[in-house]
Amino acid sequence: MKAAYITRTGSPDVIIYGDLPEPKPALSECLIKVGAVDVNPIDTYVRGGLVPAKINFPFILGRDLAGTIVALGDQVKRFKVGDRVWATNQGFAGRQGTFSVLAAVDECWLHATPPNVRDEDVVAVSLVGLTAHLGLLRDAKLKAGEIVFVNGGTGGVGSCVVQMAKATGAQVIATAGSDDKVALCRKLGADLAVNYKTQDVVAGIKSFAPNGVNVWWETLREPDFERAIPLLAMRGRMVVMAGREAKPAFPVGAFYTKDCSLFGFAMFNSSAAEQQAAAADINRWMSEGKLKAQIDRVLPLSETAAAHRLQEESTIQKSGGLTGKIVLKP
Ligand SMILES: NC(=O)c1ccc[n+]([C@@H]2O[C@H](COP(=O)([O-])OP(=O)(O)OC[C@H]3O[C@@H](n4cnc5c(N)ncnc54)[C@H](OP(=O)(O)O)[C@@H]3O)[C@@H](O)[C@H]2O)c1
Repeated sequence: MKAAYITRTGSPDVIIYGDLPEPKPALSECLIKVGAVDVNPIDTYVRGGLVPAKINFPFILGRDLAGTIVALGDQVKRFKVGDRVWATNQGFAGRQGTFSVLAAVDECWLHATPPNVRDEDVVAVSLVGLTAHLGLLRDAKLKAGEIVFVNGGTGGVGSCVVQMAKATGAQVIATAGSDDKVALCRKLGADLAVNYKTQDVVAGIKSFAPNGVNVWWETLREPDFERAIPLLAMRGRMVVMAGREAKPAFPVGAFYTKDCSLFGFAMFNSSAAEQQAAAADINRWMSEGKLKAQIDRVLPLSETAAAHRLQEESTIQKSGGLTGKIVLKP
């Protein structure tokens, strides 16, 4: 079968698009004919050897997939051949990735795809949607009527934070780096959208939320606690989930005297049960049109190396060239 894989870590040039043996489903696995996959920043870190990862070469890239079950292991209970499913959390902890024509995935990581949702759309929401859900609801325990701030309201994670916060009944302040993206933040539901390149973000937050922000979601790899903490409300919660090397200053007094909390998490540590609970909300919101995928472009799987270059330029080198996810189709 065709797959996008690596035999060593390195630049996008190490990505091979070629033939690998078809996987056979183990007892609790489903064999899936992949309809669509997408790129996440973590894929580029793993390919580049920038994060510790247990990799068995040849290693198929990718964390997410959406597709249709074509065969079952003998112990699979929740699914049948022909079911449409999606998953994230592959290509991790020794598991193979998803960038291939066929993939064998343990049923514990699979979620039924709603009939009215396309593979391209559900895969574009999978990892980033689960991340937003875990941070907003499991960790920060967002409630209706609260105010959420998110840096990068049209990004992969940020666009899900905006939409899920609105679906939960919160008010949302979002930033973006161009006027077009500011308009998209509003379309996604942001009550206030600020251009972080041309406008005063702090002044915008202070006028919209004079008593402070209840949940501050930081998507940046360099969290600025000196800016954020004074803008938190009493019992404010802050979520950090990027920036492995970051060591920012932290104003302790302004934090504990307002009874604030700080949450940090990596979605790949979440259990299958936590992911299934979040996936149920994601499926419902997508099916109802309350959570829409943000797709920048759809490419053939053979273009994986180009997709990795684009993702790195946009997220790591901060060109902002992407508005949403790169989806690839085998
Ligand atoms: N911990 C976890 O479980 C987890 C899960 C998923 C992702 N992540 C990490 O989270 C980060 C974001 O991932 P992603 O997939 O959402 O990436 P992304 O789609 O590239 O989004 C990055 C966002 O950052 C915004 N941004 C860049 N510079 C900014 C600035 N100075 N001020 C405000 N916003 C700025 C961009 O806005 P513009 O485009 O408008 O410039 C864009 O919306 C990555 O580092 C990723 O590795 C962690």
